[in-house]
Amino acid sequence: MEATAKAHTNIALIKYWGKRNEELFLPMNSNLSITLDQFYTITSVQFCECLTADKFYLNDTLATEDETKKISEFLDLIRNLSGVKKYAVVDSTNKVPTAAGFASSASGFAALAAAATKALGMDIDEPTLSTIARRGSGSACRSIYGGYVEWKKGQLPDGTDSHAEQILPEEKWDLSILSVLLEPKQKKILSREGMKRSVETSPFYQGWLDTVDEDLEVAKQAINQRNFEMLGDVLERNAMKMHATTLGANPPFMYWQSATFDVMEKVQELRESGIHAYFTIDAGPNVKVLCQPKDEEYVREALMSVTSVQDVFTCHPGPGISYLPQTKRKTCC
Ligand code: PMV
Repeated sequence: MEATAKAHTNIALIKYWGKRNEELFLPMNSNLSITLDQFYTITSVQFCECLTADKFYLNDTLATEDETKKISEFLDLIRNLSGVKKYAVVDSTNKVPTAAGFASSASGFAALAAAATKALGMDIDEPTLSTIARRGSGSACRSIYGGYVEWKKGQLPDGTDSHAEQILPEEKWDLSILSVLLEPKQKKILSREGMKRSVETSPFYQGWLDTVDEDLEVAKQAINQRNFEMLGDVLERNAMKMHATTLGANPPFMYWQSATFDVMEKVQELRESGIHAYFTIDAGPNVKVLCQPKDEEYVREALMSVTSVQDVFTCHPGPGISYLPQTKRKTCC
């Protein structure tokens, strides 16, 4: 009753921003991401009779009660689906620079969903796996697939039609995604809280909803046509609109810090000099910059020259879920 799975993290080009159902993690809008090749989580799950509670190791260290509670609640969903009552030992290694402010929840819950369902021998297809991963963290449902991925918001109240699907495999269009690391300065407002406050209080949220479907259509068309400028224009616009909802919230909040602006300005400067580079930002101060592989080195150097930039990690479109042979991991008895 054990299995190991690997899942890569993803970056949204058209954002998931706002839930229509908090408990089921159902989004207000469909959205689109690229799965990244460099950042991933490997998770082993072993269910065993000898355990009296779930045990969670993160990067070789026994996790805190709070961290374990989140994992346990997620495993409860899978236990309910499978009918198996046993507890599990979960051993997770993050190759995502989490301390540096990059979210690992997408790869984390995708890997956990895949390993736990496999360990229990559950016979489920990828869309169903995607709906399960979604319940850990919305964006995790996209990490089941590689390449360019759309999360269709679905319509059913039980969320069974709210899952991701691949729109283009990773090898069909190479792009460079540069993750720019800034020195974290402020306390993080979690995406869950930020979304809720924007939906409930921001007068700009309606503007987001009124235009996001069109952004998504333009992005899909751009991917279909491999039109980088068209994709870049819409992804940057879409990120700006998401962040505008936070400025209109009550109380207002902002994920950007001064260094975020420095990077945004550098990207604009690059564009003015004829290099096609575009930025996107999630629920934190760090910036991801997209460009074409031929410009990757030049853009990286330009970004590294910004004083407040600590590091730049270069990624390309990466694969979906994979299952690994059992290695020597933490065991229960
Ligand atoms: O899935 P969560 O709760 O990590 O929310 C992700 C929200 C954004 O990163 C801001 C947008 C997105 O689509 O990934």
